[in-house]
Parts: sequence; structure tokens; C-alpha cells
Amino acid sequence: MKAIQSVEQEGQLVTITYADGQLNLQVVTPQIVRVQHGPWQPGHSYAIAGDKVQAAPYQVDRGSQEVVVTTAALKVVADAEGFVDLFDAAGTPLVQDFRGPRHALARDLSKAQADLAAAEGHDLAQVEAANANLVVKVLHEHEHLYGLGDKAGFMDKRGYEYDMWNTDNPVPQLENRTRLYKTVPFMIGLNDGHAYGLFFDSTERSHFDLGKESSDYFYYTSAIGTVDYYLIAGAGIPGVLEAYTYLTGRTPLPQKWTLGYQQSRWSYGTEAQVNYIADKMREYRLPCDVIHLDIDYMDGYRVFTVDHNHFPHFASQLSDLAKKGIKIVTIIDPGVKEDPGYHVYDEGVAQGLFAKNTDGSVYVNAVWPGAAVYPDFGRAKVRDWWANNVKFLTDNGVAGVWNDMNEPASFKGEIPDDIVFSDGDQPSTHATMHNVYGHNMSQATYDGLREQTGKRPFVISRAVYAGSQKYATVWTGDNHSLWVHLQWSVPLLCNLGLSGFAFAGTDIGGFGSDTTPELLTRWIEAAIFSPLLRNHSAIGTRAQEPWRFGEKTLGTYRKFLELRYHLIDYLYDLFEAGTRTGLPVMRPLAVHYPQDERAATINDEFLVGADLLAAPVLTPNTAERLVYLPAGEWCDFWTGKAYAGGRSYVIAAPLDALPLFARVGAILPWRPLTQYVDVATETTLGFKCFGNTGTYSHYQDDGESFAYETGAYNRYAVTVQNGAAKVTLTHQGYAKPYQTITVAVADGAVQTLTYDAATGSYRA
Ligand code: NOJ
Repeated sequence: MKAIQSVEQEGQLVTITYADGQLNLQVVTPQIVRVQHGPWQPGHSYAIAGDKVQAAPYQVDRGSQEVVVTTAALKVVADAEGFVDLFDAAGTPLVQDFRGPRHALARDLSKAQADLAAAEGHDLAQVEAANANLVVKVLHEHEHLYGLGDKAGFMDKRGYEYDMWNTDNPVPQLENRTRLYKTVPFMIGLNDGHAYGLFFDSTERSHFDLGKESSDYFYYTSAIGTVDYYLIAGAGIPGVLEAYTYLTGRTPLPQKWTLGYQQSRWSYGTEAQVNYIADKMREYRLPCDVIHLDIDYMDGYRVFTVDHNHFPHFASQLSDLAKKGIKIVTIIDPGVKEDPGYHVYDEGVAQGLFAKNTDGSVYVNAVWPGAAVYPDFGRAKVRDWWANNVKFLTDNGVAGVWNDMNEPASFKGEIPDDIVFSDGDQPSTHATMHNVYGHNMSQATYDGLREQTGKRPFVISRAVYAGSQKYATVWTGDNHSLWVHLQWSVPLLCNLGLSGFAFAGTDIGGFGSDTTPELLTRWIEAAIFSPLLRNHSAIGTRAQEPWRFGEKTLGTYRKFLELRYHLIDYLYDLFEAGTRTGLPVMRPLAVHYPQDERAATINDEFLVGADLLAAPVLTPNTAERLVYLPAGEWCDFWTGKAYAGGRSYVIAAPLDALPLFARVGAILPWRPLTQYVDVATETTLGFKCFGNTGTYSHYQDDGESFAYETGAYNRYAVTVQNGAAKVTLTHQGYAKPYQTITVAVADGAVQTLTYDAATGSYRA
């Protein structure tokens, strides 16, 4: 850009004019600065709901060669060339523009060679580098890069390239797959213990090269648009996440039963079959809260219908199941069958609610029902219509809604870029609206459930955009029953957590391909702390309900479901804390041990909150594994044996064992075992203290409504000091405090405390 000509300040915006361009630095909060080239355009964001700009004090210093913007948390330096560098408040560099030339990736491939290889079917399609909005940043030798939503591969994304274009492709994912179902253009860098975030809020096709082209730099580029992104500085990864989720929203507190076990399979197609699954769960004493109905329950795959031949008493069946503590979640797909006479199609055509060809006719592709049309979810009117349709499901007693195929998928070739989808009330293109299709559908479904039930909506979505965490839980789509997909479930869920999606899960046992008893067993062990705990499989694959493989598999599966149910209040507490901090439930070790180089790249261990460390076995025929424990004092969750952190141990892990460690001093809620979550009957709660001294803050509410937003919750401070337990209600707004609380300390002694309604306190 060369030579700073002027610097202007208006409110939170600093505009630097160069000889040949303009750079805008908007101080959004003390931790967040938006960087934009060209004339300032606040624009509209799908990720960011409402105006997040705070009147935060900041200072601008102009030198001859640079402009420095300083807030309480960061310093942004724009130099005479227009390069932008971010520092923390102490002056430590966090992320800097790369100033050198780029080097093309060496492929040494001629056109003739490419054609030859293609003849045998080798796919040499090179990633089409988008070419607008190019941002190139320095990559340091020991820097680690995380986030980006649901990308395949390992925890540290460094060295790979990724595309943001929501894609439905059920072929087994390997680390050469650059795109999956989700677009979350947010990444976290960790260099020498210092963390920063970069958020590129563009719905266009975009591309991240995280040090593949060169180990000296990484870059982002999108199909169209100008340089426009957010720099985020915070105290460590938690600080960056807090700021990012302030901007794009936090995973809301879910209904408590959504943390229970969920059984699913594409092909549960009759009333009798669904009842059979429910009965087996109870008969085998497998705690379970939810059965999912895949597309099989619909009438000819028409969304918002039920096949009454196979589900003749749908509403009463759901109410009978509810009495047994089993809730039903149904799938819905955005593709509406092109079928005159089908009310959803007719209404949508009459009111002009579907995406259109450029000549104004309704655009038709195909999904499950055959020829299908696509609701134009970018418009509020369409979302409202969809939300009203959700009433059909809730009137039947459906408790949650699973949004599938919302990339959107299309069976008759890719949807052309120029198909008209709306951006608000303005006509736009498929190219621009593709990556927010699932986001807008999730919002519509969320609004429908909230309006109809008044409860916290349980929406699961496959495709999302940054910020969709406000509306939807996610699952990672069509994995396979492959060990590699079990291995990747850990980095996948951890990176989703670092991308704002605290509520996520994989298809336990694997969706495609046939599972094995050993793989299923290891999967339930590895997944037992996945916020979304669902076993799901594809039609025609080997059945994989927990009882299908004999007593041994069933017994181990039950043991881990029981562990999950004992610990549901811990997960619920983590969710509640996450609404304030943005921290996910499942965390890579780097979140709490940023200085630990070993922790930075671990793919096969994770933390649950800050106090539990799980090290599942992710390979076949394995009876022991190496477990790395970060700094501090740890103990074996099962035996209490003490371990000093900062080193690795070989831990025995036969097929029925999950190596699990608790931080010494941790206190965890340990609820009595039930076969499903029933908040109304919660009159007592246990706690386990891993040591003789510790503190814990526990949260309690009705587990389903929004009353907590106006104070209807209780908070308990649990303290153990030299083995003596004390419980104090620090906030009492929920009318059903526990009548008794038990606290077990390390030596096994259990202390019981009783509620005294007269004083509102607990006494031994
Ligand atoms: C694709 C989804 O990813 C999968 O979970 C589902 O079972 C099938 N669609 C059928 O609805």
C-alpha cells in the first residue's frame, strides 16, 4: 500500500488511508479487532447475531512508518505497506502478516502426465486456490493450528489444506479429504504457549493452506470478497474461545436428557421395531433416553409427514414411550418432494418459498423422495414457515429434531452456483448461500421447537456455519466402522469444541461398513464423554445395537453407559459453565497446558472439563497403552492410584477398560444410577472427591425450561478440607434443592449432608 497518508478515528473504527488503498481496524472488544481493506463496509453476518461492538477504550499512536492501536488486551500494528501484526498486551507477537514471496507447491506434473494418470481413475484434481481476500500469515517453527470445525485428520491442522464448501460425500474420509459437512472459518494458533484466533467471516467458498505450501507461512483465501477478518487475542486458548464465542454465540444449555444415551439406525421402519428397541434397552438395563427415527418414518420421504401404514399410532406410541423414559427424535431433510397435492410442496410453491432458477421457475434436483425442491432458508419468511411446520412433529410428541442433508445434498449433480437463493430479502446465489444453508435451516428448526414447546430446543445438524452452535448440536456425519475413524473421533470432536461447537458427537460404532464387537466396544469407551452420545448405523450394515454381540460386549457397553449416567451432572455443569466461558466439554490437552509441547499434538487423549483425562484405546488387539499425563498430580479414576504428571506411563487397558484419570483435588458430581434422566425425581446427589481437599461449584435447575434465565436455578459450593465435607447453597432460585447430598472422599468414607428447609442449608 505504501505510505500512510492519514489516520481517522470514528467511534470504534480506525481508518488508515494509504497512497493506494484503505485499511480499517475496528476495535470490537478489547480482545477483538476486525481488519478490513477498502471502503469500510460493516456488512451482514450470519455468524454474529446482533451488534457485538463494545465501546471499549483504545488508543491510536501514529508514527511515521506505522499506526499502533492499543486496547487493554492487545496491540495491532499496521505498517507503511499495509501489513498488520497482532501482539498481546505484554508486547508478545501473536500473529504477523507474512512479507515474503509465496512458493508454489511442487507437483512436477505436465498436462500429458495428468491425463495419463486420469485414464486409470487417479483423481489429480488440484485444489482450486480461491483468489480473493488473500491473507498470508507467518508460521513459526513450533506453532500449532487448531479449529476449522469438522476437518478430517489430526488435532494439529498444520501442514494440511482445507476447503470450506459444505459437502455430502459418504466415501470413507482420510486425511486427504479437504472438506466435510461444515464451514467454520475460525482457527486458533498456539505458538510458544501464546494463543490467538483468526475468524474469516465469509460464506463464500474458501480455502485454508495451513503450512502445506510452505512451512514459513499459512494462508486463507476466498472465492470473492475483500480482505476482511477478525484478529482475536485472549489469555490462552480459553481467552480466545471466550472472545470468539462472545462474537458468534455460545452453545446454549441443553435439556438434561439430551446428555443421555441415544440409539439410532437408518432403517428403524415400523412401530413394532421401535418398540422392540425400547424394550431391549430396558430389558438389558442399558440406560437410554432417546431413540432416533431416520427417514423411514416418513410417508414416501416427504418431510413433515408420517407413514401411517408402518406407524399406525404414532402420537400414542410416542406418548407410551415417553412414559418409559424414551423420547423420540425424528430426522427431517430440507429437500421437499416435488409432488402437487402434498401440502408442504403446494404451500411452498404458492408462497414462492423455494430456491429458483435464474428464469424465476422453481429449481428442482433430487434427494430421497426423488425430484425435490429446496426451501430458500436465507429469508425470514421461509424460516418462519419452516418453524411452523415443526408443529406437526411436536404435536405428535417428537422431542427433538435431527436436520440432515442440509449442505444441501443433491443427488442429480451439484447445484449450479447461480441458482437463486436469497440473502435476507435480496436475491443471491447458491455460491454465496450454500455454506449457510444448514445454519439457516437450524435456526428455523430451533425457532420452531422453541415456539412450540417452550423448552430448550434439541436440534442436531449435519451442515453448519460458524455461529450455528447457538441453534444446533452437531454430529460428524457419515463415518465408517473403521479404526481410523475411531481414532479421528478424538481430534474431530476436540477441534469442533475449539470451533465453538461444544455439543457434538460421532456415530458410535461407525455409520457405514460393518462394525466388529471389538471396535464397537472401544468406540463406546472412547465416546462415553462425547456430549452427544449416539450409536447410529447405515441401512444394510451389520446391526450394532449393544446386545448384538453377546454377553461380553453387552456387559462392557452397559458398564460405560452406567459411568456416563453417573457423570451426567458433571457434563451438565460443564455445559452451564460453557454458556459463560465458551469452553467446550471435551478439550484437547493444549487448552489447559499451553506451554506443554507434548500436549499440543496429542491425538488420542482428551480432557473432560479440566478435571478428567481420558486415554481410550483406539487400536485393535491392544491390552495396554502409553498415557501421557500433563503437569500436576493425577490419580487413576478406577483405583485411586496416584501418578505424578509431566510424563508417560504404560497403563493396562484390556478390552473392557478405559484408562481414565482424575486431577487430584477434583470433586465430581456422581448421581445415583437411573435408566433415564428424570429431573423431577432428583432428590439426592453424590459427589466424589479425588483426594482429601478440593472445591467444586455445582449447578442445578429444572433441566428443560428457560426459567433459569430469570434466576430459577441453584448453585452449590462443595468443599472438602482434610477429608471434611461442606456444602453451601450460594444461589437458591430453583424450588427443589436436593434433600440429601453425599460426599465420598479418597479414603472411601462417605459423608451425608441433609437439607434444612428452615435455614436453607446443609447439615451433617
Ligand atoms: C445421511 C446421514 O448422514 C445419515 O446419518 C442418515 O442415516 C442418512 N442420511 C439417511 O437419512
